[in-house]
Amino acid sequence: MSTAIINISSLVTNDPSLGEGPLGLVQDAAVVIDGDRVAWIGESSKAPATDNAVDAGGRAVIPGFVDSHSHLVFAGDRTAEFNARMSGRSYSAGGIRTTVAATRAATDEELEANLTRYLSEALRQGTTTFETKSGYGLTTHDEARALRIAAAHTDEVTYLGAHIVAPEFADDPDGYVSLVTGEMLDACAPHARWVDVFCEKGAFDGDQARAILEAGKRHGLVPRVHANQLGHGPGVQLAVEVGAASADHCTHLTDADVDALAQGTTVATLLPGAEFSTRAQWPDARRLLDVGVTVALSTDCNPGSSFTSSMPFCVALAVRDMGMTPDEAVWSATAGGAAALRRTDIGRLTPGARADLALLDAPSHVHLAYRPGVPLVSAVWRRGVREL
Ligand code: NIG
Ligand code: FE
Repeated sequence: MSTAIINISSLVTNDPSLGEGPLGLVQDAAVVIDGDRVAWIGESSKAPATDNAVDAGGRAVIPGFVDSHSHLVFAGDRTAEFNARMSGRSYSAGGIRTTVAATRAATDEELEANLTRYLSEALRQGTTTFETKSGYGLTTHDEARALRIAAAHTDEVTYLGAHIVAPEFADDPDGYVSLVTGEMLDACAPHARWVDVFCEKGAFDGDQARAILEAGKRHGLVPRVHANQLGHGPGVQLAVEVGAASADHCTHLTDADVDALAQGTTVATLLPGAEFSTRAQWPDARRLLDVGVTVALSTDCNPGSSFTSSMPFCVALAVRDMGMTPDEAVWSATAGGAAALRRTDIGRLTPGARADLALLDAPSHVHLAYRPGVPLVSAVWRRGVREL
């Protein structure tokens, strides 16, 4: 069945061959969807005949957001910790232990219900693809179960057994690294596409992180790294060295880190929800963009450091506080996220791409930053199916 969305005031395709600038903007546009794919893009007046038509009424359409970094398999929340931070306490990786305890105690059904709830929240805000991680189990059983639950909802599943050292191994961190690279990896690799490590003071150092990422690679997983969130460290350069798809956070960067990203193929994924919710220094997107680094934006949705599922919120923060233009931020939240997941079928609206798109209650994508906090997503198609 084919559907035409007509009378789109401004369409972001992210394909410069289809329209103006890096966003490939087409004015007065139409998109034709056939099955789960985009079949045609062009001027509304030239749209081919279809089974159905939806009149966008002069509003904008963008590719569905690609949220390439989230931690959605968890139980409980950390309201008290957030409150304490907003009263002056600082964020530390240790809070993760609170969520680990709650997650281990939860049933599969509770974890699944929680995940589904945050996914539908994200969908209402225009997210059509999301990556999610384990990392709140930290036993072989609990990590594998988190990945199984995640894999029922997305292909982009990440093994993060190396989130922090499990409490049982507090006196034997190397023993925990052996578990994460041994029995736990054997149990988890079949359910995941990616391997991640929190490379940071209070979590894993550079040598431990390298061992974990290399072990993951030997099991067919592709690395991504939590890097340079809380301070300077080896994470970013390690990510480039091991050929990671993405270095995530990138808040504290030296010139050498920026050079490494500029010379490598690793995407820098910036997570402004984390800086917002921990009252931390903003990552400097401008510094990365100016030397040609590919930048993605993502929510990092998790109960500790960034409890938002909203990509529009991240776009607005990135524009206001990280030196991005609205065009750059929208690109990074769509095509950038796709690049961080090494996907070419999403994050763009071009014939043959997956029909994942959001209709905005606004005349252009710029309103995502111009009208922060306003629920502008009025319809979403995912794999060609209208979900909202
Ligand atoms: O990406 N940095 C490590 N992991 C999460 C925080 C998880 C938590 O605090 O529960 C993050 O910010
Ligand atoms: Fe994270």
